[in-house]
Amino acid sequence: MKFFIDTASLADIQEAYDLGIIDGVTTNPSLMAKESISGDDAVIAHYAKIADIVDGDVSAEVISTDFEGMKAEAEKLAEIAPNIVVKIPMIREGVKALSWCYRNGIRTNCTLVFSAAQAMLAAKAGATYVSPFIGRIDDINWNGMDLIAEIAEVYAVQGFETEILAASIRNSRHIVEAAKAGADVVTCPLSSYEGLFKHPLTDIGLEKFLADHKKANS
Ligand code: G3P
Repeated sequence: MKFFIDTASLADIQEAYDLGIIDGVTTNPSLMAKESISGDDAVIAHYAKIADIVDGDVSAEVISTDFEGMKAEAEKLAEIAPNIVVKIPMIREGVKALSWCYRNGIRTNCTLVFSAAQAMLAAKAGATYVSPFIGRIDDINWNGMDLIAEIAEVYAVQGFETEILAASIRNSRHIVEAAKAGADVVTCPLSSYEGLFKHPLTDIGLEKFLADHKKANS
């Protein structure tokens, strides 16, 4: 399973990349706003910086909601670097844009997916990745992980090649559950990956090893 970091923070991307466990980056307009990146030129320049730090795929999201607008943005974003993947929302015009991108060799990530039905549309339209939002489903007291499992089942039965990118991952347990449910990729903030390190028995064990070593060598 690939690990993507869900942020537009260059510092967090660099930190995660230095750990050697990160395969790519996802962003969205909210994450760009959080870093105070605004204006077309600044947005393009920021994506170029991210694409330079990582070897893997970097999702850059369109903000248009009509086909022509998305098409123009997709062309512009795809020109930034070969590892840019254009993120397109799961709306009617978005499906058109996904199909157009597929026919024109632009890789895509279909975002804001909340059902297996939408995931099938994304796959039919040739999306490279589909992004079901786990945490936001859990937020309304449904089960986000069930959706990953359902999409994984449908894609396996039907032989769809679109990769399942579990998004809106909020903690390290989500990462493990998404792996079990059949996600090809997870994307989450650095803090969720940091949660993977933690186990009290590791800390207790290391403390004992070092104490025993000190005793034996004093
Ligand atoms: O990749 C989508 C993700 O950024 C949404 O996460 O935590 O805002 O639901 P969240």
